[in-house]
Amino acid sequence: MTRPRLIVTRRWPAEVERALAERFDARFNADDHPFTRDEMRTALASCDALLATVSDRIDADVLGTAPSARLIANYGVGYSHIDIDAATARGIAVTNTPDVLTDCTADLAITLMLMVARRAGEGEREVRSGNWTGWRPTHMIGTKVSGKTLGLIGMGRIARAVAMRAQHGFGMKIVFFNRSRVPAETLAGLAARQCDSVEEVLAEADFVSLHCPGGAATRHLINRERLALMGRDAFLINTARGEVVDEAALVEALRNGTIAGAGLDVFEAEPKVSEGLLTLENVVLLPHLGSATRETRVGMGMRVLENVEAFFAGRTPPDRVV
Ligand code: DGY
Repeated sequence: MTRPRLIVTRRWPAEVERALAERFDARFNADDHPFTRDEMRTALASCDALLATVSDRIDADVLGTAPSARLIANYGVGYSHIDIDAATARGIAVTNTPDVLTDCTADLAITLMLMVARRAGEGEREVRSGNWTGWRPTHMIGTKVSGKTLGLIGMGRIARAVAMRAQHGFGMKIVFFNRSRVPAETLAGLAARQCDSVEEVLAEADFVSLHCPGGAATRHLINRERLALMGRDAFLINTARGEVVDEAALVEALRNGTIAGAGLDVFEAEPKVSEGLLTLENVVLLPHLGSATRETRVGMGMRVLENVEAFFAGRTPPDRVV
């Protein structure tokens, strides 16, 4: 019996690639280069399943009119880089990898909050550059995190994991906005107040952390007007998707002191980062590291494998998006 052909767009942890190769006719991207649009088109037209990541833009144009792919198995929880309607119209199923990356992404949101509030990036640069002149009472004064208010936009798994860490680790008060009402049992173990609007969260929180999906519905949700609602002492944290924030407006807000600082793991046009951000001290910039731990990246790969196996065995994949 011929085995389903998989095309894997990027290199994955070695044990996951081995497991895929044992069970499927899996083709890997030997030098790990980002696929060109043409390579993506060819892959979709010649495989049974495309194993994709956030660095692949899969839109109606690359899907073409007659793709052979029947499944796009995404290595990651967010899938705004995939045109779900176009995939559905061509009878292609899409899966993702929820849960396995929740803890590590939440850890990274907390890392960014602490780094930007305590000026850890600036401090590190000072030590490395040899410009540190010694301890003094007024040197590199940051902002206390413990006891402050954390505002969350979106209240899915990652937001809840951030809230647990913030409340139980740092005694923070939690407020949040979510499009639908979040039932009390979902918030078990948390004292968190749901606000009626994004604006209410922005006006109240000392730290605002974004946890909503990307895509057209949330593009530039955080714009100039909304940034102006945050206090001059407030910080913005983004581990969700770059397009949720109007990056040009953010640069302006950071430059003018409209907000105190930002911690960013995601950007509007990755891997490009706005020039303005690169020159500012009150922002911490990380290269999309949310899920980047050995344990999580292997877990994500194994979760993709489960989805692919279920799909080709004729079962519903556990993480089917559509
Ligand atoms: C995710 O899982 O969505 C991460 O951002 C990597 O894609």
